[in-house]
Amino acid sequence: MELSIKSGDLAARRTPCLMLGVIGERQLTEPARLVDQASGGYLTQILARGDLDGEAGRTLLLHEVPGLKADRVLLVALGPQDKLDRKSYHKALAAAFLRLAEIRVKEALCTLHASAPPSLDFALALRDAVTVTLDKGYRYEATKSEKKPPLALAELQFWLAADNPKSLAKEALRRGQALAAGVSLAKELGNLPGNICTPGYLADQARVLAKAFPALKVEILEEDDMAKLGMGALLSVSRGSRQPAKLILMHYRGGKQDAKPLVLVGKGLTFDAGGISLKPGPDMDQMKFDMCGAASVLGALRAALELKLPLNLTGVIPASENLPDGAANKPGDIVTSLSGQTIEILNTDAEGRLLLCDALTYCERFEPAAVVDIATLTGACAIALGKVASGLFTPDEGLAAELLAAGERANDRAWRLPVWDDYQSLLDSNFADMANVGTREGGAITAACFLARYAKKYPWAHLDIAGTAWLTGKEKGGTGRPVPLLVEFLLQRAEAAG
Ligand code: BES
Ligand code: MN
Ligand code: ZN
Repeated sequence: MELSIKSGDLAARRTPCLMLGVIGERQLTEPARLVDQASGGYLTQILARGDLDGEAGRTLLLHEVPGLKADRVLLVALGPQDKLDRKSYHKALAAAFLRLAEIRVKEALCTLHASAPPSLDFALALRDAVTVTLDKGYRYEATKSEKKPPLALAELQFWLAADNPKSLAKEALRRGQALAAGVSLAKELGNLPGNICTPGYLADQARVLAKAFPALKVEILEEDDMAKLGMGALLSVSRGSRQPAKLILMHYRGGKQDAKPLVLVGKGLTFDAGGISLKPGPDMDQMKFDMCGAASVLGALRAALELKLPLNLTGVIPASENLPDGAANKPGDIVTSLSGQTIEILNTDAEGRLLLCDALTYCERFEPAAVVDIATLTGACAIALGKVASGLFTPDEGLAAELLAAGERANDRAWRLPVWDDYQSLLDSNFADMANVGTREGGAITAACFLARYAKKYPWAHLDIAGTAWLTGKEKGGTGRPVPLLVEFLLQRAEAAG
């Protein structure tokens, strides 16, 4: 979709559809007031009939509004002023988009961002307008035989009030578009079934990304390579699968020559049956989403590449399946990780940490400025935080503050949980340096504590996205989270780097 900025007299703009916000039942937003004046009070008159009840997301489509060059006017309720927040703003944007899609207009002029809640600065209000709209346009169709007709809306224009700087507005559109493309990529990869989205498929996706953005350099480590390195933990997981594991490495050097890279590590478990510690049958299909950490790394990198961020970035994706098989890990097996530490596998379903520990050790060679790993790691994290916040674990106060703030700003929040050493003894083993599971209590924390043992050589944070990476029920599907959080984090780092 083409996005552009328009300014000047709204009444004089020729457009198939002019979108105007209404506060409460009949209070006109500033752009609507300007249009109302030009139409001789027509909008006020219509609203006085009470046709637009004030709930956020209600819409009213008007034709032949006098005094305007626009073919149609779409009135959109933002809800009562005292309840106007980011949620109602997004609801209004989403509803407006759906209405535009319904009437199949090819082009529209949006003014809704001019009435965003006061908590959002101008650039963020505009960026949200872009991301919410493009996000609503996402449809999963890859494995449906009947494709819906493509979206008619080809150009969306955003009106700019005279006192807003155009350069800032353009940058907001650019960021919104890049972010939306990253989110959409993450959703699509999450939604693809496990028989298509295999470790090899994820590796191919990295190559596809590098083809579209030649600044990205991709290297894939095969099982032989990993065996030579000594990645005994990672390889123990893929032994139970017919799909060979891949370690996907992606490098982008948009920053200063000597700047240390930021590294994103994503769990790429393309299907998690639990292994010999087999998961129960109901809902097991959802374990195709166990690669959403990997998907978020690809999505965030895609956005960073499109924005040409002045950063050095490395993406690392350990990818495997976790299935029961004669060669699979058995409870009680002991493996040696790349770090040299031995692990007693008490539960083969705690496989994510076995992949991640070797990937985290491998990261040492990059001398990272920071490493953030993203993983659908524990059901316990989803139990603790539900579908609202991702779990954030880090011993680093500065990194914690940065990631929490990025989540707030991007509307993709995380909530910090401890990684205190007090929990470490739960991983004690009589037969190895550590066990791969602790008790059921504090399960998300002991998982993070396990990872912490492999991430001592650089600033590190872990995001557990088991609750936030996908939705269930009628809305079943990937959410693209935490791509917005990650991209915001990168944007802030890029700004700091100048
Ligand atoms: N991929 C799962 C975590 C998961 C479970 C995410 C449910 C979302 C919903 C992970 O590999 C796993 O199985 N974790 C175990 C750990 C346990 C054996 C210590 C879990 O959470 O049950
Ligand atoms: Mn598992
Ligand atoms: Zn898993």
